[in-house]
Amino acid sequence: MSEEAERAAVSVLGLGYMGSALARALLDHGHSVTVWNRTASKAQPLAEVGAAVASSAADAVAASDVVVACVTDYHTSDAILRTDEAAAQLRGKTLIQLTTGTPQDARDGSAWADQHGVIYLDGAIMESPHGVGTPDGTFLYSGSREVFERNEPLLRCLGGNALYLGVAPGHASAMECSLLSFLYSSWIGFLHGAALGESEGISVESFLESALPILSSLMTPLVQSSAEMAGTRSYGSTVARLDANAAALEHIVRFCDESGVDPTLPKGLVASLKRASAAGHGEEDLAAVFEVLRARDGA
Ligand SMILES: NC(=O)c1ccc[n+]([C@@H]2O[C@H](COP(=O)([O-])OP(=O)(O)OC[C@H]3O[C@@H](n4cnc5c(N)ncnc54)[C@H](OP(=O)(O)O)[C@@H]3O)[C@@H](O)[C@H]2O)c1
Repeated sequence: MSEEAERAAVSVLGLGYMGSALARALLDHGHSVTVWNRTASKAQPLAEVGAAVASSAADAVAASDVVVACVTDYHTSDAILRTDEAAAQLRGKTLIQLTTGTPQDARDGSAWADQHGVIYLDGAIMESPHGVGTPDGTFLYSGSREVFERNEPLLRCLGGNALYLGVAPGHASAMECSLLSFLYSSWIGFLHGAALGESEGISVESFLESALPILSSLMTPLVQSSAEMAGTRSYGSTVARLDANAAALEHIVRFCDESGVDPTLPKGLVASLKRASAAGHGEEDLAAVFEVLRARDGA
């Protein structure tokens, strides 16, 4: 691809924390960038570093062959792009959808794009705004491989670690939601542990000091052996029964009750383990809870 094609004109719709970082990364890499945001004042810092500011979303779409959308959710993005004017401008152009959503949102976006002659790639940003534009910045993409490859130089300006996950448009969103489910439960789990410790006079700092080495050495083998069991749907080989893990979690619920710390998190975990136990998995490994987590109507 020629340098000129690599530095194609790009329009960025949405200038929240993330959209602003995307626009800035494209400017830093020499792209000609047009921006639009509902609240016009957020375009000012980007105008100062060379972005053109459009007065409507349709005008922004008209300005470039590649449009990057990054707003709160797909509902918002649809309200912006699915107007007669914006949709007409978008025909024949490439829409890179970086708004967070569900796999179904991505499939709907892809179907709408097909119906309206829009070239579509769905993406998910696995970075904070600080990581955008860096060589290690991780972005996930799914949809047409040809569209991914044609736009790869531009995508690598947004984040050097641009990963293509396959032709199914929902896969980037699916991977993002799956990773976020893991991240948020661990992250909030850390804060819950910190609150429990604090209720007994253990400072958040000393909790962190103990938690990091202990949990990082425990976590990887636990996740690996769980993945193997869940992958084969076979949970018989264990050193700790699911029922014993449920009992350990019930102590945490009691600790919450005694200390006044919010018990919602461990209560939810106990409920899942009890469902797995009731479905006959009590003597198996904790990983057997996968059987109730994966099933929509229980075990
Ligand atoms: N920030 C992060 O660390 C991060 C990381 C990964 C992914 N993401 C994803 O990136 C997307 C944007 O996040 P953000 O952090 O930039 O959020 P944000 O700072 O809250 O910005 C939200 C953006 O959506 C626009 N918006 C909201 N409602 C609108 C409406 N009704 N009509 C028109 N525009 C509307 C806002 O416009 P106004 O300025 O006019 O309100 C703004 O441009 C989200 O899907 C988020 O999940 C963010």
